[in-house]
Amino acid sequence: MFLWGTATAAYQIEGAAGEDGRGPSVWDTFAHEPGRVRDGHTGDVACDHYHRWREDVALLAGLGAGAYRFSISWPRVLPEGAGAPNPKGLDFYDRLVDGLLAAGVTPVPTLFHWDLPQALQDRGGWLNRDVAGWFADYAAVVAERLADRVRMWITLNEPFVHMAFGYGMGVHAPGQALLLDALPVAHHQLLGHGLAVRALRAAGAAEVLLTNNCTPVRPASDAPRDVAAADAYDVLHNRLFADPVLLGRYPDLSAYGIDAPDDALGVRDGDLAVISAPLDGLGVNYYNPTRIAAPAEPGLPFADVGITGHPTTAFGWPVVPDGLRELLTGLRDRYGAALPPIYVTENGCSQPDELTPEGVVDDQERIAFLRDHIAAVDRARAEGVDVRGYFVWSLLDNFEWAEGYHQRFGLVHVDFATQRRTPKASYHWFRDFLAAR
Ligand code: BGC
Repeated sequence: MFLWGTATAAYQIEGAAGEDGRGPSVWDTFAHEPGRVRDGHTGDVACDHYHRWREDVALLAGLGAGAYRFSISWPRVLPEGAGAPNPKGLDFYDRLVDGLLAAGVTPVPTLFHWDLPQALQDRGGWLNRDVAGWFADYAAVVAERLADRVRMWITLNEPFVHMAFGYGMGVHAPGQALLLDALPVAHHQLLGHGLAVRALRAAGAAEVLLTNNCTPVRPASDAPRDVAAADAYDVLHNRLFADPVLLGRYPDLSAYGIDAPDDALGVRDGDLAVISAPLDGLGVNYYNPTRIAAPAEPGLPFADVGITGHPTTAFGWPVVPDGLRELLTGLRDRYGAALPPIYVTENGCSQPDELTPEGVVDDQERIAFLRDHIAAVDRARAEGVDVRGYFVWSLLDNFEWAEGYHQRFGLVHVDFATQRRTPKASYHWFRDFLAAR
């Protein structure tokens, strides 16, 4: 069975930041620091999904998509990150899961979509190896409550983006700009993933996935310097997060001046066996390919020079549907039998959507984007790649991290002043597409 769906994340939609015992997360802290998020936007209210979830479940039911990928807020469940769970937090997800099932929608929760409890950040965040164990304990608490009804689980969302943006460059929470000193964040997230896989299975989870952000990397030219730079970038973005999980070893990091990757990452005996526990699927989030040249200045061994000659989204990201086919076939070629089935757990675009006075959002670019990317998935499947699902990012316009509410990715328009939801033309298109499929 092929799983069609849409996706969201807790901090991006829930709001109710200080309600019912939820503790603060790194994103609450970060968004409230001046200059971090465009126009000082925060997720305090977001789409107010915490209160309006019934309306959102009805939108999902209306779409007729089989599955809904959402994330669970760790600090809503464990306000201090560890220790005593918050019953009201667990109750919220319990109701949501029941509501989804009653509406005929398969719940697919992700346990970590970047909102680490601030209490754990105060102890070092993902730079502290202990967070891996706390993550597994949190996974156990949630699974104990929900695994009787939830079959499919995702541990982490995009550990690369969290490491690079949050700890490497500091443009996302927790706002640290450590460059290569952020590398242990990769290992500690993956160790947390591996320990959480065990905890989830022990609690009866039937299927467990890890979701990575993946990009096909293209060298800017055939010159050996550009090819080497592209390879270095591919290692950092893609292989650093897939090789240990699928092959049980970290890739060569010599392009980064690192002779012993395991030492730089903080690997201890036995870690890689935990990290490479078999999975039921690999979640792949795809937005665009990356074009890399040799750097003009000393520093990192690559320069992102951008893809030209394609239409762009409101974010300025190039629209390259065939990049998704290239990515999927590339994963198959690289990992062969070690590759579990793939689920495209995010794909979508921000567009300059306008709500007319008649209540219409005619987002034809988004429709074309989705149609062309789904066709690319079909081509990859025709080439033999075992793809089993596709989730649109996102159900709703939401808090787009450092861009605040400026980038709209939803199939449903949200008026953030009134919280009014208006399905866009793309929502109706996706509903009809699913019905025909
Ligand atoms: C993230 C989402 C985000 C989307 C668009 C992905 O990297 O998982 O949370 O909204 O990209 O930027």
